[in-house]
Parts: sequence; structure tokens; C-alpha cells
Amino acid sequence: MDSLPFSQSCENNRAVILEVLRHVFADRSEVLEIASGTGQHACHFAASMPWLRWQPTELPESMALLRPRCSACGGTNLLSPKALDVRADPWPLAVPDALFTANSLHIMAYAAVEKLFAGLARHAATDVVLAVYGPFNYRGEYTSESNARFDQWLAQQHPDSAIRDFEAVDALAAHAGFSLKADNEMPANNRLLVWHKA
Ligand SMILES: C[S@@+](CC[C@H](N)C(=O)[O-])C[C@H]1O[C@@H](n2cnc3c(N)ncnc32)[C@H](O)[C@@H]1O
Repeated sequence: MDSLPFSQSCENNRAVILEVLRHVFADRSEVLEIASGTGQHACHFAASMPWLRWQPTELPESMALLRPRCSACGGTNLLSPKALDVRADPWPLAVPDALFTANSLHIMAYAAVEKLFAGLARHAATDVVLAVYGPFNYRGEYTSESNARFDQWLAQQHPDSAIRDFEAVDALAAHAGFSLKADNEMPANNRLLVWHKA
């Protein structure tokens, strides 16, 4: 690989996520990506869906992780990375007609997940699509042994990190005006959840 910040999981999952996003974002114009990490998804998805403008964002203190790859990959529809902590009130940028985030809800504290949806309730206009990729529990149960082990590992990394309950997140989304449109089963016991605010 190259010397840019790199995530192997992004490399592994980007093709299967793109397969779904191509349809989910077919009629969208701009995607706000929350918690873009290394920018690998942003670069790949912007290049692969040229009808979209793609706005990568990260925590202010993690912008140094995101900027290098975004500068290197360029592309006219990849917007300059911006800082966004979902706990901010108000958010420092507008919410366009689509949002995407991958592998972030189980990293940030649950209080931040609540703030994310509170931010969406405040800032999302009508006809907004939200796509969230990652592992989820259902009815309080892990969907696999490997997710159970992953959750233990997460807790060791940070006590606030944990695989979230689908039902709790869906309730936050509903409270923010979003209704569930699809729950896509993905490889490696992940999901790609899609909500729409009408
Ligand atoms: C496991 S990484 C995922 C990065 C990338 N989306 C991916 O799939 O590889 C989780 C990301 O969540 C970001 N994050 C954590 N708390 C956040 C918050 N309050 N607001 C925005 N991003 C946050 C972290 O900075 C980190 O980059």
C-alpha cells in the first residue's frame, strides 16, 4: 500500500457497500459523510458515483487523518474535508439530501449517537436519506459469535464503545423524523441501514 493513512476494513468493505449505495443514492445530489476516518470510503465512493458531491468530515482533532488521502485522490466531486463533531450544537455545516456513516456508532459513546440524531432532527430538511453501515444487535442479541467477541474487544479499547441495539437506534431515527426503508444484510455480520425523512 501507500504511505497515506490506511484502514484494511475500508478496503475490504468498500465494494459491497458501494453496491448498495449506488441504488440508495441514485437520485441524491450531495452526501455528508460523518466520521470519514482515513477518507478511503470518501475517495472511492466519490469516484464511483460521479453524479454525487461527497462531503467528508471528521472530528476536529482527527482531520490530520482525513486530509492527506482526500488531497491525494482529488476529483471534482470530492469536497474539501470539514470538521464535524456530531455533539456540536449547532452543526457547523448544512445537511444536504443524503448522509452516510460507516463503523462509527459503535465507536462513539451512546450519548454521541443520541446527539447525532438530535443534530439531524435540528438540521435535516425534508427528503433526506441516511445510510449507516456497521454491526448491530437485534432484540438484545448479538447476530454472531464474532460480533460478541468484537464487542468485548471494543469494551477493552474504550468503555463507552459498544455495538448498538438496532431498535434503540431506529427509535432515535424515528424521533428525528426518519423512517426505516431498508435493513441490508452485509458480509462479516454487518448491516447497511437506510432511513428516509419524508
Ligand atoms: C472506526 S472509525 C471509522 C472510520 C471510517 N468511517 C471507516 O469506516 O473506516 C470511527 C470514527 O468515528 C469518529 N468519531 C468518533 N466520535 C465522533 C464524533 N463525536 N463525531 C464525529 N466523528 C466521531 C472517529 O474519529 C473515527 O474516525
